[in-house]
Amino acid sequence: MDNKNAHFASVQSVIETIEPGYPVYCLRPAELRRCAKLFLDNFPGRVLYAVKCNPHLDVLKALYGAGIRHFDTASLVEVATVRENFPDADTYFMHPVKPRAAILGAHNVYGVAHWVIDHDSELDKMIQVTGPGNGQVVLVRIHTESFGAAYELSDKFGASNEQAVSLLKRVAKEGYQPGLAFHIGSQCRNPDAFRHALAKVADITEKADTPLQYLDVGGGFPAHYQEDHPPEFIKFVDAIKESLGKLNLRGDCVLMCEPGRALVASSTSLLTQVHLRKDNALYINDGIYHSLSETVSANIKYPVRPHRLGGSFSEHTQAYTLFGPTCDCEDVLPYTVELPSDIAEGDWIEFGQIGAYSNALCTKFNGFEMETFVTVDEPPLMG
Ligand SMILES: Cc1ncc(COP(=O)(O)O)c(C=O)c1O
Repeated sequence: MDNKNAHFASVQSVIETIEPGYPVYCLRPAELRRCAKLFLDNFPGRVLYAVKCNPHLDVLKALYGAGIRHFDTASLVEVATVRENFPDADTYFMHPVKPRAAILGAHNVYGVAHWVIDHDSELDKMIQVTGPGNGQVVLVRIHTESFGAAYELSDKFGASNEQAVSLLKRVAKEGYQPGLAFHIGSQCRNPDAFRHALAKVADITEKADTPLQYLDVGGGFPAHYQEDHPPEFIKFVDAIKESLGKLNLRGDCVLMCEPGRALVASSTSLLTQVHLRKDNALYINDGIYHSLSETVSANIKYPVRPHRLGGSFSEHTQAYTLFGPTCDCEDVLPYTVELPSDIAEGDWIEFGQIGAYSNALCTKFNGFEMETFVTVDEPPLMG
């Protein structure tokens, strides 16, 4: 049965209808609309969706339908996906390191005009490939301090204050509209990260004596997981607004954010099936090389819910080790999961809050490809 784009009232009805022996992503378009509205109504600037987080076309379409018209893209494929599916939407090439061919294609074929750099050599490359600035926008990505995010993106990217001052001046001199960008780290639970980064922005702008035409505060807004309940979204917006008040920005400076996780995490759950039980070990059909890699890379704990066809579970629960579908011994969740004591082969385990960095990170290891998406009407599975 081809379940692509199939629609169901609930996850239980997915089970009753198709009894899937393969993993199924259950997308809630209403939740995507709610999250998009939260950002669009409260963030005081442009909201770019970070496509890398979940590039599935149904997700992009739902976000577009909810009013998202700007997309943060990191490769030519992402640029093409957005431009070809949503010709009236804008794409921004926000990867600080770009292959020459990707710059050329994005510029010449898809009309991309917003770029990020964090080094002089990348600016040289841009000028060599696309010619001088001519009003295009170049944002200088700056390094930010660690505030306990699950991923510290500044370990990889970001100019120091001193480098940023010199780069910003050069960007303006080369005929680009100058801007600054940063990313406080993904799944950052502390709004002070924005206060600190925006204080850096103030310092760099003043030293460079170059008024900003663009300011991109990045992503990093956290999602809610099991045992991980960060401050509400609005606290992060308040921190940004409060810090902006202290910046001497031009009236026409364009403010942007580029969230991934907080826009899409809650929208999707993943239905997996138990293929074997051995005492306290369950062998399921998804794992760390597929949708569940963030259990290892970021110690993310997803809320879980067991499902059974035509029967109920014992009220008693116990801790289980969950093994993934590959033959690899590393394919195991790094923590135990509490589930009914009588769960058995053929039952299903649903993982909630799994819309971010799940299908996007799947490998094809051992021949498993997790590609079935359905939509469901029910509310998200929360912790
Ligand atoms: C440049 C850039 N922008 C935005 C994002 C999205 O971040 P998040 O999903 O934490 O909101 C990322 C994530 O890696 C990124 O690298």
